[in-house]
Amino acid sequence: MVQFHLHSVIALLVAGASLTSGLAVQNATNVSPAPDVTSPLTLSASRWIWNSATTTANAQIGLRKDFTPPLGKALIAAEIIIAGNNRFQLYVNGDYLGAGDRPRFGHRFCVDLLPSFNVFAVNASTTVSGSGGVSGGLIATILLTYTDGTTDTLVTDSSWRVKQAPPAGWETLGFDDTTWAVATVVGSYGVSPWQTVVVALPADPPVVSFANVAWVWTDVVPASGTVPAGSRAFRSTFVPDPNQVPASATIIISADNAYTLYVNGVTIGSGSSWPTAQRYTVNFTSRPTELVLAVLATNTVASAAGVILSMEVNMVPSGRNNCTAGVFLMTDGSWKSTKDLIPAGFEQPGFDDSTWPAVVGEGAYGVAPWDTLTIATVATPVAV
Ligand SMILES: *[C@@H]1O[C@H](CO)[C@@H](O)[C@H](O)[C@H]1NC(C)=O
Ligand SMILES: *[C@@H]1O[C@H](CO)[C@@H](O)[C@H](O)[C@H]1NC(C)=O
Ligand SMILES: *[C@@H]1O[C@H](CO)[C@@H](O)[C@H](O)[C@H]1NC(C)=O
Ligand SMILES: *[C@@H]1O[C@H](CO)[C@@H](O)[C@H](O)[C@H]1NC(C)=O
Repeated sequence: MVQFHLHSVIALLVAGASLTSGLAVQNATNVSPAPDVTSPLTLSASRWIWNSATTTANAQIGLRKDFTPPLGKALIAAEIIIAGNNRFQLYVNGDYLGAGDRPRFGHRFCVDLLPSFNVFAVNASTTVSGSGGVSGGLIATILLTYTDGTTDTLVTDSSWRVKQAPPAGWETLGFDDTTWAVATVVGSYGVSPWQTVVVALPADPPVVSFANVAWVWTDVVPASGTVPAGSRAFRSTFVPDPNQVPASATIIISADNAYTLYVNGVTIGSGSSWPTAQRYTVNFTSRPTELVLAVLATNTVASAAGVILSMEVNMVPSGRNNCTAGVFLMTDGSWKSTKDLIPAGFEQPGFDDSTWPAVVGEGAYGVAPWDTLTIATVATPVAV
């Protein structure tokens, strides 16, 4: 059996990655071209915080940070980078901005603020227990911009307020958190097991990599690691956060032994030699409100079998979200797969995979027998 790295286990334990299901992107056709901005933000001065140094499994906690500008200054906007273990949902002044569930892959949000008093609230939870910073953690940096062009920076630290199982309405502007405890700092940025956090920012070329991404296969990987020959289908569905509209994506993928990749039912490409992964560019000309990744993978002879995929999606600004946000998608425990038969139309967005079992992780990128891969770029973008 292949050993997991701890962070892979944590990532794979997260059930149901579709955190944002049920939230429709509003006015997805009303989008303008994305200005390509480089964020000045870093998490290096921020701390991982939680409600205590020892995490209770399946606990939900509320974290709040109030901010009132200095006299004579008026706030205009905030840019936020944030990551959590396992799961966070971010609210500003009670408005839901979005969610994430991978501690080593951060999210970026931009939002307009009220001139004076503002509240940043994070709904966080973890599925596993732990102590000494090993389990629950939330880290963020918030850049505040004033009308005069000056800025201030907020970081997660012991000035945040925290409450386990907070009462209804705790995320709103008017809620009084003065009786809440102050947050416990469980580690500095860079601490194990999370180490550094990659934030999906628009970059040319994109920074997508396989680092910390899991190889997966169906839930029937024998202890010997020798998987029967045959084809299996894999699927993952992603619903963007509100006001985030996919503009383009870079996908890197390999499979032992062969694959065909589809996004929203469109064939992106194929590969049949796992030591060389392919890098594809997708142009979301249809401005989709949901992304369905589907992979048909074939194990040509009884042997090891696996699929690994990593994807960076860049969004166009829309509605209140006025920066070029991005998100990383990757093979993990939220993917689903068939055990044997490949149903017709499995690659189509509308296909119902609700009865498919979740995949199993076979270890993070770098694990034997695959070790590191080379990546060949497929130059022509595919329109989806
Ligand atoms: C969508 O965008 C159009 C064009 O800007 C605007 O007229 C309309 O009110 C918007 N609809 C919603 C629901 O925001
Ligand atoms: C926070 O997360 C919990 C589940 O962990 C959910 O029930 C709740 O609706 C979320 N939102 C708020 C504002 O508490
Ligand atoms: C994506 O598609 C749009 C609309 O067809 C086009 O203008 C743009 O050049 C394309 N981008 C790339 C990178 O191909
Ligand atoms: C986003 O909003 C802020 C504050 O209004 C403004 O300074 C900035 O130029 C906007 N960015 C974009 C890309 O529209």
